[in-house]
Amino acid sequence: MRNETRFSPTLNIMVNAIKAAARGLIRDFGEVEHLQISQKSIGDFVSTADLNAEKTLCVELEKARPGYSFLLEESGSKKGKDESHRWIVDPLDGTFNFLHGIPHFCISVGLEKTSDGKSEIIAGVVYNPITDELYTAEKGGGAFLNNRRIRVSNRRKINESLVINGLIRDEDVGRETNAVLNQTRNLVRFGSAALALCYVASGRADFYWETGIKPWDIAAGSIIVLEAGGTVTDKKGQKDYMNLNEVMAGNLDIHGILAPVVKKANKA
Ligand code: IPD
Ligand code: CA
Ligand code: CA
Repeated sequence: MRNETRFSPTLNIMVNAIKAAARGLIRDFGEVEHLQISQKSIGDFVSTADLNAEKTLCVELEKARPGYSFLLEESGSKKGKDESHRWIVDPLDGTFNFLHGIPHFCISVGLEKTSDGKSEIIAGVVYNPITDELYTAEKGGGAFLNNRRIRVSNRRKINESLVINGLIRDEDVGRETNAVLNQTRNLVRFGSAALALCYVASGRADFYWETGIKPWDIAAGSIIVLEAGGTVTDKKGQKDYMNLNEVMAGNLDIHGILAPVVKKANKA
């Protein structure tokens, strides 16, 4: 069993930055739960919480690795001196839950490395500050929930599996959702893409797919699934999910069953 002091230097930096940003989010979440103000003011309050968390992440990551580039959900791209390393940051994933006082949201940070024109995520950390669940993975090092090694589920039967989707209103997604519902009734939307991937990685869920996601939603979660022995693809079954704004992740068996269902529904 690994304890927190034995994170690699890279994971250590990511975890420390995330924990620093989490302190503000925890405080702000406590406020949201008690705010009796208009939806608009709550919206503004949450955007401020979001921005503050992003600022803390930026400052801490930059301090530890000066010169790395950034892709930030709220502030966009920032080129550093080192363009071969890029932090991909979602300071608050699950904003709608946060806004509604539902403790299912997280901070997500991935580290991307580019060499010979090829980019890959080499480390990822996702943290739900309310449940204190910290998911970490580094290329080749396995995936962990707090100090425990995690693996995707070994469920093979579709009727026993839990499937997560983003469930947006869209014709293709509607067809896909109906097709998946023909296979299993156990379809849910939890409202955080990064945590959906972590739930697949830790075996809580068996398959997750979504259209319209962005790199910061899935950068960290995708390596956590891969390092937990799962598979991550775009909707064609290829590896271009970071660029195509779509993702399908699962254990090999359930991905093997549902990925073709989604793909076929999409072509219908
Ligand atoms: C959203 C959440 C949600 C997913 C959306 C994302 P946000 O991110 O991950 O679960 O369905 O596609 O945009 O806005 O909470 O950072
Ligand atoms: Ca997000
Ligand atoms: Ca966000």
